[in-house]
Amino acid sequence: MSTDLNSQIHESAKIIRTALNGLAPKIAVVLGSGLGGLADRVTDAAYIPYGELPGFPRPGVHGHAGMLVAGMIEGVPVIFLKGRVHFYEGVSSAPLKVMMRSLKSVGIETMFLSNAAGSLRPEAPAGNLIAIADHINLAGINPLSGENDDDWGPRFLAMGDAWDKDLRALLMQAAKALDIPLIEGVYAWFLGPTFETHAEIRMAKIIGADSVGMSTVPDCIIARHCGLKVVGCSAITNMGAGLSDESISHDQTIEQAAVASKNFTRLVVQFLKNLHMQGA
Ligand code: HPA
Repeated sequence: MSTDLNSQIHESAKIIRTALNGLAPKIAVVLGSGLGGLADRVTDAAYIPYGELPGFPRPGVHGHAGMLVAGMIEGVPVIFLKGRVHFYEGVSSAPLKVMMRSLKSVGIETMFLSNAAGSLRPEAPAGNLIAIADHINLAGINPLSGENDDDWGPRFLAMGDAWDKDLRALLMQAAKALDIPLIEGVYAWFLGPTFETHAEIRMAKIIGADSVGMSTVPDCIIARHCGLKVVGCSAITNMGAGLSDESISHDQTIEQAAVASKNFTRLVVQFLKNLHMQGA
């Protein structure tokens, strides 16, 4: 299994390296549902459809394009990943491993993970952003279950520092400088594809979650396993089920993510610039 996976990682990394054409980005940004617009800001862009990258995800959800975009954004070299797999699609963790490990192979050190999420915090309703300080895995699966490839990371991975404290402080600082309201919160991963019941949202609140969603936690786990640092934020598209009168749907997720995307774009660009200035 690992031989197959490693040859896909090797092949994909080779294609990405060629497309980078000497550019040496240290950060990659996964753009969640409705947040893909940020990639349009890239100059001198190279585009690689996931379909051309062996083993990469084949995203199927509306709002997820499946495109790697590499280039410069306001003087910072960066790779954007538009589209990800969701485990509710019934896929294995292999595409996620190929994606993260090939990015690591081309020199990426930090992953910025974003998503659309439901909020459990009244002060951060739809249209707001929440920085992810930590997560709770409620999906009942772990993308590292099964055979471990020790060459990439340990069998038993500590998750106490899953979401990088210093990078998050830099993100909070960027938000403050731009006057963008940003609270820190714990993101709970539900497998989906159903949205949560009212009881599940009450439970999530009780156990310490601030937001809920169907992605990102597996990305974080696979990224941390191969030594990538992780930072990120959620675009809030709705209050958790039962916490407001609004109905929850995928269309609403996309629509409200577009509202949040304006501040999201400003925030991420500022964060990238600040990080770049630090030499990271
Ligand atoms: N629950 C799960 N996933 C989501 C939600 C939600 O309320 N909103 C956007 N993605």
